[in-house]
Amino acid sequence: MTRRTVPAPPAESNGSLGEPRAVVGHYTPLFRRVAALNAAVVIGACVVTILVLSPKKLHSFAASEAIVLAAALALVVLINLVLLRRALRPLEALTALARKVDLTRPGQRVPVGGYQSEVTELATTFNEMLARLENERRDATRRVLAAQERERLRIAQELHDEVGQTLTAVLLQLGRSARQADPRLEAELLETQETARASLEDVRRISRELRPEALDDLGLTSALVALTERFSQGAGLKVRRDVDRELPQLSEEAELVIYRVAQEALTNVARHSGSDTAELTLTRSNGGLTLRVLDDGEGFDPYSGEGGGLRGMRERAVLVGAQLAVMRRPSGGTEVRLRMPLGAAAS
Ligand SMILES: Nc1ncnc2c1ncn2[C@@H]1O[C@H](COP(=O)(O)OP(=O)(O)OP(=O)(O)O)[C@@H](O)[C@H]1O
Ligand SMILES: [Mg+2]
Repeated sequence: MTRRTVPAPPAESNGSLGEPRAVVGHYTPLFRRVAALNAAVVIGACVVTILVLSPKKLHSFAASEAIVLAAALALVVLINLVLLRRALRPLEALTALARKVDLTRPGQRVPVGGYQSEVTELATTFNEMLARLENERRDATRRVLAAQERERLRIAQELHDEVGQTLTAVLLQLGRSARQADPRLEAELLETQETARASLEDVRRISRELRPEALDDLGLTSALVALTERFSQGAGLKVRRDVDRELPQLSEEAELVIYRVAQEALTNVARHSGSDTAELTLTRSNGGLTLRVLDDGEGFDPYSGEGGGLRGMRERAVLVGAQLAVMRRPSGGTEVRLRMPLGAAAS
């Protein structure tokens, strides 16, 4: 009889409750055990009935009688198999889903239909547990990301106010000293001043990247313009933009999700695609808002594995009930698409 291997539970949680890691044992599927038992009982009952009613009959079956009896038994066993399969199907679906369920892709459920039984109740309870886990994960992610944004803001301000101002003072001091120094020392001081100026620029850039001030001060459209221009200047990635003029009023959280997804998607284009052009569009469609970041580079390989960037995008999308898709474009290159329902994103 065929046996199945049972994957051990994950040694540590990695956010998705999936991947079997080790084999701990074998078992015969419940369906087969119950089916075999039922078949044995039906055949046994048949033999006992014949023995009780007419013991001699067992040795004097006509061929036609034997065929009818065998066919009747086969039919009963078959009906039993079909009914059993239907009754246990939710259990098999539950096991399959429990192995691969990924809470960053919410909404996966065991189909529960047909006759009510302990099995459908187990499947319903499992679905309710998934809904609870998704909610808890969403709340936990919201707390973690909010804390991360607060910390980014604090570091950005500190860099801007403390390090930036100190470097500005050093620049001015170097300029003054250079003017008073003899020509050889003056050249050296001016060179040092240039190095300090470059560091100041770096500090300002890092501070801006940590926290998009434009998002707080001027809104999403301006923040996206500033972001794409930064990529054009800093990373040499020419980004074509198409942002709807009349964007709906969005919650702060929804704006931040769109901004961070666009930022990571463009970073990925610059790092992985091999292309030096990209396209960013943000448009209203079918009662929602769609952000798309496209490139015509070497194309996303879905089997290359998900890094922190894609996982972060997915987790942010879940926060505002949006759907994220990352795919290889038919024409080559990669498309990142974030579809956000307006009900969840409105402020
Ligand atoms: N635009 C793209 N073109 C080609 N490959 C891509 C693109 N975007 C993502 N990838 C592939 O997907 C992988 C996962 O991307 P992800 O952003 O999750 O991780 P990462 O960029 O490698 O690291 P990080 O955690 O710093 O973002 C990348 O390593 C790359 O192979
Ligand atoms: Mg990345």
